[in-house]
Amino acid sequence: MYLHRLGTASFIACLTLSVSGCGEVDDSVPNQSAAARAIAEKVRIEVEKDRLKRLAPRLASAIQSAEAAPTAARLAPVSAEEQSVKATRPADELYAANCSSCHGATGAGDGPLSAGLTPTPAKHADGNYMNALSNEHLFKVVKEGGAAVGKSATMAPWGTSMSDEEIMGLVAHMRGLANPPYDGPMP
Ligand code: HEC
Repeated sequence: MYLHRLGTASFIACLTLSVSGCGEVDDSVPNQSAAARAIAEKVRIEVEKDRLKRLAPRLASAIQSAEAAPTAARLAPVSAEEQSVKATRPADELYAANCSSCHGATGAGDGPLSAGLTPTPAKHADGNYMNALSNEHLFKVVKEGGAAVGKSATMAPWGTSMSDEEIMGLVAHMRGLANPPYDGPMP
């Protein structure tokens, strides 16, 4: 690959600079080869500079739009390893960004993705159902997914993109959505 590129670049160098005899670059002739390589390298640097100049405005606008992106987009899950050096993200923001699409913004089970799902997403707002489930159970469902507790795998595991502290925060957040209110121990 490198040799191929070098060959092409030398060829371009020959065309632009009309260096006599460089059409037959031959590694067995060290001086000729070194000169051809030097020219090829210069051409390559010029080509690269041009490319970077052309890319710069696109990069600038990409950075600009990333900075302007809504909070939800910036809450995209990160690996557990990355997370360990980051601050714990607020539960309400995590819930809005990762759970509300199915469970609904207030836990009514009516998120935009809920319509096509069987079984339907649990109603975190339904205290009659949720208050009977233990903190440990809720923690396990969120961390390891529905399948880990014999429920639907549509409820995905979040343990690779959220820290234990964040999952604990989500359990507490769900407790706060319940009606009738939850009055058991907090996680
Ligand atoms: C793709 C849709 C979807 C998303 C996103 C989703 N869930 Fe679920 N969740 C479900 C479904 C479907 C069920 C019901 C599973 C069942 O009853 O078998 C469920 C069930 C649950 C349950 C109830 C478990 C039980 O024992 O009844 C909890 C708690 C839960 N989800 C929490 C969360 C949290 C917290 C998030 C965000 C981090 C989340 N879910 C994101 C679809 C989703």
